[in-house]
Amino acid sequence: MDRIRIKGGRELGGDVRISGSKNATLPILAATILVDGPVLLRNVPYLKDVEGMCRILKHLGVESHRHANGDLEMEVKDKTPYKAPYDLVRTMRASFVTLGPLWARRGVGEVSYPGGCVFGHRPVDLHLKGLEAIGAVLNHHDGYITLSGPVRGGTVFMGGPFGSTVLGTANVVMAATLAKGMTYIECAALEPEIADLCHFLNACGAKISSIGSHLLEIEGVDTLHGCEWSVIPDRIEAGTFLTGAVMTNSDVRVTDVEPHHLLAVVDRLRATGANVEMGDDWIRNIPTATGRVQAADVTTLPYPGFPTDIQAQFMALMAKAEGVSVITEKVYPERFMHAAELVRLGARIRREGACAIVEGTDNLAGAPVMASDLRASASLVLMGLVAEGQTDVGRVYHIDRGYELIEQKFRRLGADIERIREG
Ligand code: EPU
Repeated sequence: MDRIRIKGGRELGGDVRISGSKNATLPILAATILVDGPVLLRNVPYLKDVEGMCRILKHLGVESHRHANGDLEMEVKDKTPYKAPYDLVRTMRASFVTLGPLWARRGVGEVSYPGGCVFGHRPVDLHLKGLEAIGAVLNHHDGYITLSGPVRGGTVFMGGPFGSTVLGTANVVMAATLAKGMTYIECAALEPEIADLCHFLNACGAKISSIGSHLLEIEGVDTLHGCEWSVIPDRIEAGTFLTGAVMTNSDVRVTDVEPHHLLAVVDRLRATGANVEMGDDWIRNIPTATGRVQAADVTTLPYPGFPTDIQAQFMALMAKAEGVSVITEKVYPERFMHAAELVRLGARIRREGACAIVEGTDNLAGAPVMASDLRASASLVLMGLVAEGQTDVGRVYHIDRGYELIEQKFRRLGADIERIREG
């Protein structure tokens, strides 16, 4: 298994180009099940999760082909398969979003329940409630859920006790594009990845309006046709590099981004005293005279709030801040696996339910650590950049799921970082 080795203490500098968004790409890939004819996708990152989704789609009759220039072409070749088996789904929860498209396009959709997750219970009840509200007849059996019946459309309330669900909204939106009538999705997720999915579907002939709002209106159409589409930039990758720039007090610019997708992150970075500037398609951290950040509290929330997917990285930043910060996780209250590993590097972190209390320190020293999930591994890499000595981050396959060439990008910025290949 590969490791990432970082020797801390270097200042970074320069531009880093942000890749296409993983979390926008995955539902768009699933949506190709709905489409007749080829789809050409641009700005699709080279990631394990993208490969994984293509593997599942191949099983479902959708062929993918990467062109030499990086464009990804998708086309349905066989419309008969309707079942996504456990062996494939358990490797990637996001593949549960094939359920809505399979049902809507093929009349029946059968997908395994995804099972457990390292950051706590992640149910799919709201996906199913939403799909049922637009006509799905549900049948649970042997760890699978099967949907059948006509896609009627209707009114759906996507919210749960905490807010909305991102992939649940994606599942219902996709099925509703081929409904026999109108669908109104109230409390739809506001994440930019959902807006990107909706714009993509409209480019294929769907009729979705009020995109980007909490009330999506979808007029069902008979068929969808192929199109060319460029995926939005990855706001989480951008936020990760910016946090790293602030941690190392470096002059780093993230480019090819949508700055308005990162307002909550920039707000919190500025609250630490960081000097962050935004342009049309870039965000830059300008080093400060002292180089020391102040503690700032953060609470993760659905978009446009602070993303849970940057909570671990922000915790790493707070580990070296001046003062005590409280990090509250409102999206996944158990998503704190990284805290114990950060402690191995010298961080002072105490858990209190859905909160972590972080007391900043200058005494951070490298050590071997283990990644528990994608964003946890990113936080460990960031800590490695500032910890004294050598940090080896194990289980790097987590990071390869969602960050394209992370060590190469950091090395180009001047970090002492390398991948150690094993086995
Ligand atoms: N929830 C339910 N019932 C449901 C669905 C969700 O109770 O049926 C709860 C979850 O347990 C959680 C909250 O709703 O407490 C929000 O979960 P959501 O459904 O919005 O998450 P998701 O759609 O499964 C996507 C991203 C995650 C990201 C979350 C939150 C993709 C592929 N995944 O997951 O990304 O953390 O939204 O923003 O888009 C990552 O990239 O590292 C990652 C985990």
